Amino acid sequence: MLDLFPDSVAAGDELQIGGLTASALAEEFGTPLVVYCEQTLRARARAYREAAPDARILYSVKAFPNVALLQLFAEEGIGAEVSALGELEFARRAGIQGERILVDGNNKSDEEVGAAVDAGASFVVDAPDDLERAASAGIRGDILVRVTPGIDAETHDAIKTGHLGSKFGLPPDDALATIGRGNVAGLHVHIGSQLLDLGAERMTIEWLAAFVARCRAELGWTPRLLDLGGGLGIRYLPEDAHVGIAEFVEALVSSTRAAWKLHGLPEPQLILEPGRSLVGDGAVTLYRVGVVKPVSGTTYVAIDGGMSDNPRPQLYGARFTAVLANRLGQEPTRAYTVCGKHCESGDVMIDRVALPEPRRGDLLAVPATGAYTLGMGSNYNGVPRPAAVLVGDGRVRLIRRRETIADLLALENG
Ligand code: LLP
Repeated sequence: MLDLFPDSVAAGDELQIGGLTASALAEEFGTPLVVYCEQTLRARARAYREAAPDARILYSVKAFPNVALLQLFAEEGIGAEVSALGELEFARRAGIQGERILVDGNNKSDEEVGAAVDAGASFVVDAPDDLERAASAGIRGDILVRVTPGIDAETHDAIKTGHLGSKFGLPPDDALATIGRGNVAGLHVHIGSQLLDLGAERMTIEWLAAFVARCRAELGWTPRLLDLGGGLGIRYLPEDAHVGIAEFVEALVSSTRAAWKLHGLPEPQLILEPGRSLVGDGAVTLYRVGVVKPVSGTTYVAIDGGMSDNPRPQLYGARFTAVLANRLGQEPTRAYTVCGKHCESGDVMIDRVALPEPRRGDLLAVPATGAYTLGMGSNYNGVPRPAAVLVGDGRVRLIRRRETIADLLALENG
């Protein structure tokens, strides 16, 4: 179970991350609190860089838009893939610019195209008129065309993107016609997220090589850049399969090399856009236990957050696990249902998890909550979103302050 926690986890009577106890962190910063582990984030970044030293690695900012994390990744040689103006501005605030930013998105506003020009960013064509918009705005970076390979990845329907009929990318004939119209440096593909199936990635690469062979035959064009998107999954539960970053990236690199060689194509430079696998297992969320309520066979353990800081259970049926961080040495007694504080019966974070009998004031720690949690949070029920901290070597830094009710009221006019 503790192997689901960040690399710096230490267990005794109490959970420790980055050399600090969960209770000291909760005491200082309050709860809910998202605790990122610097050691884990740097290790994941280095794993990508080492497995593909020649590739451009871009952090997919949507997983958790945060300036401090973007700066940390920039120190490790990692840029940013952004899909909206806000994400672009986060990357710029972190000092990232030029080709180290790639602007993506299926419906870019004029403002977003203009900001991509200002940043000198690279640009993904995802719509029939994107190429002309990029050219007339004066995009200086590399232009990639996103193509839909027609591959149905094995993941939740809401996060697969490579199938025909997807709102993302251009079908092959349209992609080819677009490439024929302009100054295109490469291809982009992203088939889905939380993938633990290397087969779908290999099939995609073989499909891409055949598509590039067609581009060469029909247009005399081959891509200098090949962006394979993100997608590598992480473990959320002890029984989940594990595919390491090295294994995943090596499969991409060797499949590309083999498929390109088969068609006698010049090898492209790779671009990778990992989100979840860079930050997902690098954080733990701490919650304070409030009400413990037995009702007809189920005992609810209510925490001081819920679907406003992690809507993944509601959106994807995602499953998480947890420990009582302040009573780690104690044996679980039976299964409890962890629910949030929101006014919805669906606000259940963990359907069943074995814990020592929880009491008001205990600290519940949920691992693997670094990606698509706080970044997809809301203010449902007027609940301010939690703070995030970065820990390492016994030190802690606030990287996103807790929202206040005053922040919410500042938007009101009445
Ligand atoms: N590149 C593109 C073009 C993407 O659309 C995405 C994710 C990524 C890269 C990063 O993928 P990752 O390495 O994180 O799998 N909210 C959902 C995930 C949505 C993913 C959207 N696109 C969830 O919580 O599972």
